[in-house]
Amino acid sequence: MTPLKIGFVGLGTMGLPLANNLRRAGHALTVWNRSAERSQVLAKKGARIAATPRDAATGQELVFTCLSDERALEAVLEGPDGILAGLKDGDVLVDTSTAGTREARSIEERVLSRGASFLAAPLLGSKGAAEQAQLVVVCGGPAPARERARPALHAVSARLVELESPADAALMKLVVNSLGGAMISGFAEALALGASGGLELSTIVDTIQASGFHSPLYLVKGEQIVRRDFAPRFGLALAEKDQRLAQEAAAEQGAKLPVNQAVRQLFAEAVASGRGEMDLAAVAELVFERSGVKR
Ligand SMILES: NC(=O)c1ccc[n+]([C@@H]2O[C@H](COP(=O)([O-])OP(=O)(O)OC[C@H]3O[C@@H](n4cnc5c(N)ncnc54)[C@H](OP(=O)(O)O)[C@@H]3O)[C@@H](O)[C@H]2O)c1
Repeated sequence: MTPLKIGFVGLGTMGLPLANNLRRAGHALTVWNRSAERSQVLAKKGARIAATPRDAATGQELVFTCLSDERALEAVLEGPDGILAGLKDGDVLVDTSTAGTREARSIEERVLSRGASFLAAPLLGSKGAAEQAQLVVVCGGPAPARERARPALHAVSARLVELESPADAALMKLVVNSLGGAMISGFAEALALGASGGLELSTIVDTIQASGFHSPLYLVKGEQIVRRDFAPRFGLALAEKDQRLAQEAAAEQGAKLPVNQAVRQLFAEAVASGRGEMDLAAVAELVFERSGVKR
């Protein structure tokens, strides 16, 4: 493998392990994160710390971003110190954030105007999969750019799904997360139905897992809900954002998604109740509260 020069902006829950796996695979990393202390972990392992997002993007073959949402992305892309100002002809920007279809189209347009290429490469899988390079990456964009990014994307994933355009990849991510949102909401309600009638939560989880409706999601989230362990692996505020983005894409496309609308409302209320920084599993606590389930 030929080592690539890679700039990486956004070292949060997902970004840090992604960047670390790129480093482990032998690529030369330059990193930038808004909170500087998170860059230190990688600096100790040989990464260069950039002064600005623009500095992180300058002179690289690939530039990765992994930011919370559209607002965070815009903050690192635009302005004299932004990534766009550092891109030149032939560069490839790879955005791994979940930021929706509209943002994917908007970034693509601006990146193309600088002579560079844009790939949306949202991530399926959470913190553990990111640490073990076991993510599924959905990568959308022009074939030559995908070919250039492939060695780096293979270094962080177990499977790569390739699509023709950034907006297609962004939409596919929303497809998967709208299903995940419906699954966790339905799971929380099923637990509330049983627990409000006196059934033990752990017995309900075991029984669901023995049924034809079992799922790895219910296994992991069920354990967290039983233990009331809501340390963020995938935060509720991010999960709410994903359902909002799915609603926005549906509205643009003329699709009607009443279940997704209800899920978004539930997640928004969970965030409003002060659980935004907790793990997605904490949505069950709100459902339990409303159902009079005592913990
Ligand atoms: N966590 C998961 O399980 C998971 C799974 C699949 C996809 N995703 C998606 O991947 C993306 C990253 O998720 P995450 O869990 O890594 O989020 P996170 O831990 O909250 O990290 C967010 C990153 O965005 C940066 N950021 C936020 N606002 C900013 C701003 N205004 N200016 C500059 N930087 C800003 C943060 O910097 P600071 O460190 O300074 O706050 C941090 O580097 C999200 O789009 C999420 O939906 C997450």
